[in-house]
Amino acid sequence: MASLRNRSLLFRILQQARPCWLRLTGIAVLGLLSIPLALLFPLPLKIAVDSVLGHQPLPAFMSMSWMPPSSAGALVLAVGLLLAIGLLTSLQNLASWWLQTYTGEKLVWDFRAQLLEHTQHLSLSFHDDRGATDPAYRIQHDAPSIQYIVIQGILPAFVSFCTLVGMLAVCATIDLRLALIALVITPVLFLLTRACSRLVRERSIKVKEIDSSAMSIIQEVLGSIRVIKAFGQEKREYERFVRRSNQRVDGQVRLARLQAVFNVLIALTISAGTATTLYLGVQRVRAGAISVGELLVVMAYVGQMYEPLRLIASKATELQTWFTSIERAFALLDEKVDLHEAPNACELLRARGEVEFRNVTFYYGSKCGLRNVSFRLPPGARVGIVGDSGAGKTTILNLLMRFYDPSSGQVLLDGRDIREYRIADLRRQFSVVLQDPLLFAASIAENIAYGEPNASNAQIMAAAQAANSHKFIAGLPEGYESKVGERGAQLSGGERQRISLARAFLRDSPILILDEPTSSVDVKTEAAIMEATDALMRGRLTIMVAHRLSTLKNCDMILALDHGELVDQQASVQPASFFGWSNSHGYAAQEATEKLNL
Ligand SMILES: Nc1ncnc2c1ncn2[C@@H]1O[C@H](COP(=O)(O)OP(=O)(O)OP(=O)(O)O)[C@@H](O)[C@H]1O
Ligand SMILES: [Mg+2]
Repeated sequence: MASLRNRSLLFRILQQARPCWLRLTGIAVLGLLSIPLALLFPLPLKIAVDSVLGHQPLPAFMSMSWMPPSSAGALVLAVGLLLAIGLLTSLQNLASWWLQTYTGEKLVWDFRAQLLEHTQHLSLSFHDDRGATDPAYRIQHDAPSIQYIVIQGILPAFVSFCTLVGMLAVCATIDLRLALIALVITPVLFLLTRACSRLVRERSIKVKEIDSSAMSIIQEVLGSIRVIKAFGQEKREYERFVRRSNQRVDGQVRLARLQAVFNVLIALTISAGTATTLYLGVQRVRAGAISVGELLVVMAYVGQMYEPLRLIASKATELQTWFTSIERAFALLDEKVDLHEAPNACELLRARGEVEFRNVTFYYGSKCGLRNVSFRLPPGARVGIVGDSGAGKTTILNLLMRFYDPSSGQVLLDGRDIREYRIADLRRQFSVVLQDPLLFAASIAENIAYGEPNASNAQIMAAAQAANSHKFIAGLPEGYESKVGERGAQLSGGERQRISLARAFLRDSPILILDEPTSSVDVKTEAAIMEATDALMRGRLTIMVAHRLSTLKNCDMILALDHGELVDQQASVQPASFFGWSNSHGYAAQEATEKLNL
């Protein structure tokens, strides 16, 4: 069962490595070139013993007509041969090393790129569920196993096998009986390898899981360092990490112990094989069946022949840990993309901006996000979405941008189900300011131009001015070239929000989505932003989620949500009815009056 699994895995790995087949063939050929060199290696010793020190003639294929049949000539030949073999072996090693490194790195980067590309296309449900660390671990730490398996596993095992066959063949021409005796240990090694591989595989799966979860602790700690410091929980986090690390150390030590025991067993088996061959070889020399030089050659071959056997056996156990890793990487690649683009999805250049939700129900797993919601938004409308925290406001926006597909019902854009459009075309229709403005570790200008990489400096500046952020950016020492730090950590919440507003302003899309765009700015900045947004809203459908009533005063339509249900829909903000709604939802009438300036 396990070997069947290994075989299909091996097939998949070879398929994955197929684009590099030419270089891989080069590595195999260079590896095979080492066989004649290895076979020639004991020959100078044989010549020295038999033809220089002894009185036997040189092997027939080595006697040259021009060379005097003296022992001095044989010695020159032996020494020259040794040097030539040394030089060629070094050259072969150098070329192999270069090609192996280059091909290995290429295999890993191609595999990593493919994994990242696939992971980016997985739905948000996948990302919500799995978080960032586990996929990151698979991409960064599990993907390199392809290099180890192919370059340090399969190819050397193949070359070792060929070397073994070659040496056996030469041994057999010298003395068949000795060759067969030397071979006797092979089945023992095979059985040992099989037993050990299974154990290594089981343990390495556990170690990998612990490793991945230890990494998620590190990431969580570093990503939430402010909260940890604020609540003084450094010691607790440290202890959590140490506990997990100790488990990993235990697992890793047990794995290493298993491998060490296995290596000892292999070494003992090999020693037994060598000793038996030596014992019987001496008997054969005494009986006059072979010369001393030939015994030396056989013994040198046995030493070298066991090397490939040892390599094949030890690689087999190492392969198990690498197989575990590559299986995890393949599992990520096998995650189904559940947001499918229709095979004949239609193109959408620029939507008019008419949105309709028809009986939309949506579940995040088993948790209800929206329940049977229906509404229609005409093009160019300014729509406010209100409701308590967790009422489903962001969910509406998520479904509209097709981050998720509804569990039932339909979302329509310009009268067509959004699932009929090409996903990239659909997403281009939206400029978004998310609830939690996220910036990249780049300059402010690059962040503003994130959706429009070709925007000119003048356009970037105009967008910043519209978002009322030009002044604070210009006041920074490096202006628009200032770096904002990872996730924008070097800016205040309000500054981050204004940059993300500028980013949305720069992208001239027919639908503008603002998920609480002014939640972390002061009242003065909010008023300035709303004024700028007012100009931007013209001619496009704007959907704005807001908790503050003041933000909603420019809206000409309000959707009120409660526990995932649409409880109120007003064509415009009518003071009387709006107060009714706002009172029943906890907004004080006084605040409403104040904010709405009525
Ligand atoms: N990724 C998710 N996985 C599971 N449940 C979720 C997820 N996102 C939201 N929910 C749940 O769905 C419901 C609606 O969430 P939503 O984010 O739409 O609320 P909201 O109205 O935007 O709230 P807020 O004003 O706090 O932003 C909530 O009960 C929330 O717990
Ligand atoms: Mg929200």
